[in-house]
This record gives sequence, C-alpha cells and structure tokens, in this order.
Amino acid sequence: PRPILIDTDPGQDDAVAILLALASPELEVKAITAVAGNVPLALTSANARKVCELAGRPEIAVHAGCDHPLERPLVTAEHVHGKTGLDGADLRAPVMALQDKHGVDAIIDLAREVDGLTICALGPLTNVATALTRAPDVAGRIREIVLMGGAYFEVGNISPAAEFNIFVDPEAAKAVFDSGCKITVLPLDVTHKVLVTTDRIAAFRAMETRIGDAIADWTGFFERFDKEKYGSDGAPLHDPCVIGWLLWPELFSGRQINVEIETTSELTRGMTVADWWGVTDRAVNAMFIGNVDAGAFFARMTDRLARL
Ligand code: BDR
Ligand code: CA
Repeated sequence: PRPILIDTDPGQDDAVAILLALASPELEVKAITAVAGNVPLALTSANARKVCELAGRPEIAVHAGCDHPLERPLVTAEHVHGKTGLDGADLRAPVMALQDKHGVDAIIDLAREVDGLTICALGPLTNVATALTRAPDVAGRIREIVLMGGAYFEVGNISPAAEFNIFVDPEAAKAVFDSGCKITVLPLDVTHKVLVTTDRIAAFRAMETRIGDAIADWTGFFERFDKEKYGSDGAPLHDPCVIGWLLWPELFSGRQINVEIETTSELTRGMTVADWWGVTDRAVNAMFIGNVDAGAFFARMTDRLARL
C-alpha cells in the first residue's frame, strides 16, 4: 500500500477523509498530524483521535502540531463546523493518547524513514511548511503533497478572494507552493461539485453502522450552513477529495499549471492566483484539479466506508 501521512484540522469533512483512508487497503496511514484550523489545536488533535477510535484504529499515531499560523493570528470556522469542529455526532472523548512528538517532527522523521511518503494536507499548511523549511531534505524525500485548498473559478469561501485553508496561513501555503515538491491541489472548483445531498446522506445512514450514522449526522449538520447561505443542494465534502484522488484518479481531471499565493494584500489575502489559461510564463508548480465525476465518487466512497 501507498504510505501516507494525513495533516488535518477535523472538521466533519476531514473526519470523513480520515475514515475513507482507513477504509482503503491501497493506503497505509503512517500517522496523523493535527493543526489548528477549523477549531483550535486542542480540539483538532482530540477530534483526530476520536475518529481513529470510531474506526477501531486506536493504534494510529496522532501528533499535535502547530497551534497558530506562521505569522498571523488563528482564524477558525466554528460558523461552519460548530463549536467542537465535529458538531452533529456526539463521539466520546478519546481514550488513546496523543504522541509526545510534535507534529512537525513527526512529518520530518516519517519523510526520512519512509520511502515515498505522500502528505495529504486537509487544513492550513502550517505544519507542512514548517517541516519543509526546518528540514530542507524533506522536499526531496517525499513522493508528493496532495492538498485541499484554493480555488480558481469558485474563488472564495472565507473571503471573496480566498479559500479557508490557504487564507488562514498564506505564508505557509506560499512556502509549500515554492518548495519544489510535487503538488496536487483539490480546490473549491472540485469540492463544490461533491455535495452531500439528502439522498447521499440517506445512503450513509443506510449503511446501518456506527460509522455510517456518524457520517450522516456530521454531514447533516455540515450541510445546513451551505444550504442556508448559498441555497445549494448540500454542503461540499471538501477533504475526502484528497483521498479520492489518490484512490481513483480516473474520476478527476485537471491541468499542470503555475499557482502563486497572495500574501501581501489584505483584500485578497490567501488568494490562489492560478494560471489556468497559461497566460504567464511562470513555471508550472502544481497539478490543479478542475473537475470530478461526483456521482461515481460518492458511490465508491459510500461502498468503501460501508466496509469499515
Ligand atoms: C476547507 O476548510 C475547512 O473548513 C474544511 O475542512 C476544508 O478543509 C474548505 O475550505
Ligand atoms: Ca479541513
């Protein structure tokens, strides 16, 4: 199986991404590193462990990483995810312990120990950027970084110009995009096609498992925000797209392009300036995904999650 490390700020959609990875024999989850994002670090690091326990995998190493962005105060998203970050399903407090090792050290050590580690980044890029700058050999050792973040046509969800993960820590995102690592981006353009509609929530419920119920409860909670705010058919299930891309790349399409991150303007802070049409001669630095077969993705994801 392909070795992966999941860097995350759970988040209901992060939780589903973790479960999808744990349900997939093609992937081996080497560790989970928590970062501050949707909610503060104490909650994201507890939530990651709750999800591992829900999956019956308390042996997964969960590390707490950075508790604030590189240069800015933390911005959180309780308005979307609720006070706990995992509102909707009441999971018991985790019994499994957090690892002593800091999340950034866990990324550095695993990148050195494991051949061809893939980093799946589901939150602000603070941990990943810190690892890359503190240990410059990491960039040459890992296989790839696959991240949920940014937008092109869909522009922003936390500001008119920016997507949440990039907005929270634009300096970290810039360091990652400038790192020379192979990068694949699952932006809002893709994730806004992956909507948890009422039918899809019913399919999770129909699994008749604790996990199916938790996912139905989470996505039922999560969807109210987008339904009310944007009048869409359901909330976008952002972060599972990262795992979906690793499992079923044939369902996705995109382009190799240049992406730059806006760090100086307050108005467009964290904007992913994506050269989709190739109008500059700036060097390609990312695979930017633009489309997905959402129907097929949901069918395969539901089938996978039902096996957990
Ligand atoms: C991203 O922000 C978070 O709220 C979600 O978990 C996802 O990673 C979407 O903009
Ligand atoms: Ca997330």
